[in-house]
Amino acid sequence: MSNKRKDCIISLPCLEDARKKNIDQNTIYRNYYFVDEFLKSFGIGKKYFIRTYGCQANVRDSEVVAGIFKEMNMLETQDISDADIIVINTCAVRENAVDKMFGEIGSCKAYRKNKCQVCAVIGCVCEQPDNVEKIMSKYPHVNMILGTHELPFFADNLSKLLQNNYKRLINVKSQGGSVYENFPSMRQNNYKAFVNIMYGCNKFCSYCIVPYTRGRERSRLMEDIIKECRDLVNNGYQEITLLGQNVNAYGKDLKNGSSFAKLLEEVAKLNIPRLRFTTSHPFDFSDDIIDVIAKYDNIMKSIHLPVQSGSDEILKLMARRYNSKQYKELVDKMRKKIKGLTLSTDIIVGFPNESEEQFEKTLEMVDYAKYESAFTFIYSPRKGTPAAKLNDNISDEIKHERFNRLVKRLEVYVSNYALSMVGNTYKVLVDGPSKSDKSMFSGYTESNKLVHFKCDDSTLIGKIVDVKILESHTYSLIGELL
Ligand code: 5AD
Ligand code: SF4
Repeated sequence: MSNKRKDCIISLPCLEDARKKNIDQNTIYRNYYFVDEFLKSFGIGKKYFIRTYGCQANVRDSEVVAGIFKEMNMLETQDISDADIIVINTCAVRENAVDKMFGEIGSCKAYRKNKCQVCAVIGCVCEQPDNVEKIMSKYPHVNMILGTHELPFFADNLSKLLQNNYKRLINVKSQGGSVYENFPSMRQNNYKAFVNIMYGCNKFCSYCIVPYTRGRERSRLMEDIIKECRDLVNNGYQEITLLGQNVNAYGKDLKNGSSFAKLLEEVAKLNIPRLRFTTSHPFDFSDDIIDVIAKYDNIMKSIHLPVQSGSDEILKLMARRYNSKQYKELVDKMRKKIKGLTLSTDIIVGFPNESEEQFEKTLEMVDYAKYESAFTFIYSPRKGTPAAKLNDNISDEIKHERFNRLVKRLEVYVSNYALSMVGNTYKVLVDGPSKSDKSMFSGYTESNKLVHFKCDDSTLIGKIVDVKILESHTYSLIGELL
């Protein structure tokens, strides 16, 4: 019987289309999705499991998918073997994330033999033709493959798959993309929220797959973002993080005078206790943004400013649109104008042809910027990007050796900062029992430093409390609740 069931291939990814740099118009759709009666009755008594890889944009996308499941009357389960629908939301930014994901989808085979009716792989990995081919040929238990642009139509695709009893449904568009409002959503957290302000990226850094998987930069209207944030404030949220691949470019595509500085100021005025944003690109970090950050106490002074490399030649090859001098000037300006600024960054080592001298420029940049925190990556060629055409000629040994030296150098400044906090008291937003020691609670300071402290009062979860720092463990702190 099952052999007779057909694949339903609606659309397959196409790198040529994904490469197109223009978007005709930022179209905003408001009435596009519904969960039909079939899905609503299908969902009764059933459970879903979602695994999310990658960045905050994926976390937010998974919240939207969870919102759809909620409208289908489904319940969430943390036990994958008990799920009727499994969703794996994927990240394509580096090969190790993709490998991990393939490991997990392999292990889903066993669950499909039991009660699981749908195993869906969605998101960035599906935007790459090779990955879709691999899933189709090697993972037949995956019966739904959806690209990033299909998220608003998740319910339609699911309904189509189940109602027609297709063997498998594949729907991946490679396009600039549009903006969709009025998403259903089930937020993971009732005191910290991610709010998308824009989607996609136009920067096309030469190593990065994101512009191909998520389409062109397109901004939501300011009024829609403000409304979402106001509702969150009214519902008692303590922290909002404004999300975009390149938030500083917010509004450029709207051509109606909207800008990130204006948006940030309007959201800050809603009096959310903590306002954050990520990710910033140094190229678009204008003075008016710095002024707004400096002006409002509730805009957190911890800013993520990816540098990627300290070498001008490598920055050029990366197509980052700034050189080390310009980046340093920006750091100086920010440190001068924003009191209490803490900086974090992203750095890639082992980019093609990176020489020892060029790598040392990155170490020099670390010494200059004195980052309070950092994410470090080994270069991973992404098929379809310009950098992937360069010879990935730095040996694994050298890549790892540079990576370790970089981490060691960064640790000096991370540790200095952590030690400088000992003895002082900071405001901490309480997350709840710490993952490693259940007798401790954990939370984050305004500067985004993880703090553990003795506590068993669960009424404090989601509240901002004063914690005195007693000990530094470099990447986290031990404190005492006051
Ligand atoms: N290889 C290694 N790191 C990468 N990043 C993005 N693409 C790659 C790649 N191909 C890193 C960048 C970016 C972060 C989110 O991931 O540092 O800022
Ligand atoms: Fe990737 Fe560069 Fe866009 Fe960031 S700004 S998502 S690194 S292309």
